[in-house]
Amino acid sequence: MKIKNICCIGAGYVGGPTMAVIAQKCPNIAVTVVDINEKRIAQWNDPDAEKIPIYEPGLSEIVEEARGRNLFFSTDVARAIDQAEIIFISVNTPTKTYGIGKGMAADLKWIELCARQIAEVAKDSKIVVEKSTLPVRTAAALKDILDSTGNGVKFQILSNPEFLAEGTAVEDLKNPDRVLIGGDVDTLEGKEAMDALVNVYASWVPRENILTTNVWSSELSKLTANAFLAQRVSSINAMSELCEKTGADVQEVAKAVGMDSRVGPKFLKASVGFGGSCFQKDILNLVYIAKSFGLKEVADYWEQVIIMNDHQKRRFAANMVRKMYNTVSGKKIAVLGWAFKKDTNDTRESAAIYVADYLLNEQAEIVVYDPKVTEEQIYSDLNYLCTRSEEENRKFVTVVDSPMEACAQAHAIAILTEWDEFKVIDWRKIYEDMLKPAFLFDGRRLLERDTKEKIGFEFYAIGN
Ligand code: UDX
Ligand code: ADP
Repeated sequence: MKIKNICCIGAGYVGGPTMAVIAQKCPNIAVTVVDINEKRIAQWNDPDAEKIPIYEPGLSEIVEEARGRNLFFSTDVARAIDQAEIIFISVNTPTKTYGIGKGMAADLKWIELCARQIAEVAKDSKIVVEKSTLPVRTAAALKDILDSTGNGVKFQILSNPEFLAEGTAVEDLKNPDRVLIGGDVDTLEGKEAMDALVNVYASWVPRENILTTNVWSSELSKLTANAFLAQRVSSINAMSELCEKTGADVQEVAKAVGMDSRVGPKFLKASVGFGGSCFQKDILNLVYIAKSFGLKEVADYWEQVIIMNDHQKRRFAANMVRKMYNTVSGKKIAVLGWAFKKDTNDTRESAAIYVADYLLNEQAEIVVYDPKVTEEQIYSDLNYLCTRSEEENRKFVTVVDSPMEACAQAHAIAILTEWDEFKVIDWRKIYEDMLKPAFLFDGRRLLERDTKEKIGFEFYAIGN
């Protein structure tokens, strides 16, 4: 089957960059990204490509090149579904906040809505691709909905999990370690659908890096990959606490351990805790699935990764309070970085939100600087926790445009995102403008201990 039109439902952090790269690499395929959020689509269509709603290095350039040629952003979901041979579903699948599986299972409300809309609109056979991270066996639910409410149209469901990491999305999409495509390997139609999608990726990904599996393996591989990565971070973070007690340095330990080729050096950076839309959600999902099969030990094993991560965020904030003579009430604390990692404007599950919340509960005044996160987003993240009223958040949290402004007359600084620009700050100038003793808490191991101590900060770095 020759693919001429692709539709992607959901213009978010996954759908947007993925479709932009497909459009760039496959100029003969028309790629339409649709979303029910009109504001988001308008932002994607902003004539100034710098103003697209997602910040990713290299993304605005690709959008600039392909938009209007074979990359389109639209709110007309029905039309895009109707025209496409392949429909990607990239809508959000947050953890449920109500009912059975609350706090653990993925909320599939938006996925189901998509399936119903595809079923309603489709007049000819379609390949439907799960792109969002989903619990194992979602494909079966999708198929049920499509087959029972459709008008006799044939659907092939594929699972094609996205492995891109935010901040490096474009690079990850252009040179993926692997592309994984799960489908119905037992039928001719299933194999044809998989081939069609393989051919799209083969435009730029070497064939040997495109894996095809059955649909359940593909779905579970995504959860497993994220669980393994998160587990490495929690493992090194567990060691960071031990290092602080024993005088070892977690960075030295990580280097020594990572040089073992069986372990490898990546994802061993101790931090204030992992964030992002995937790690916690996917592990909770895995735990929920294991529990639902009665696999208590499996569930407990993975749940510990989350418990450790929550502990790390709380421990960091508690340590700040302890070092500042057990009270931060009325003290101004500068938070440098709000995004869950550098080079993204995404704040979902960012450790900064939880550290700030802890400090606000201790009646601190917070001043935030992040180079890419908007003021509106920062308030929305705090309001979402419902710990305080919106008025209180506005009263005790200020958002500013520079590190200098954030730190002026502050008692302490917390570095919570590893933005490169924080490495080259004039720390001496910042120090001079702070109340003394001035505290500097490095939750990202961004700074060299030596320089800070020479300047005069009371300095604390995670795992040292
Ligand atoms: C992750 C997976 O890497 C990606 O494959 C999947 O598709 C989506 O989930 P992402 O959440 O975008 O990607 O970012 P990632 O680079 O994995 O970082 C996740 C969190 O872990 C960040 O908060 C990061 O700061 C933290 N982290 C990562 C550490 O604290 N230490 C590390 O060594 C690595
Ligand atoms: P992700 O990180 O998985 O890409 P996002 O929240 O960034 O998640 O993006 C998901 C997008 O999907 C949002 O912009 C949301 O408006 C959109 N969306 C959710 N449900 C639907 C739907 N039924 N039809 C079209 N778009 C949808």
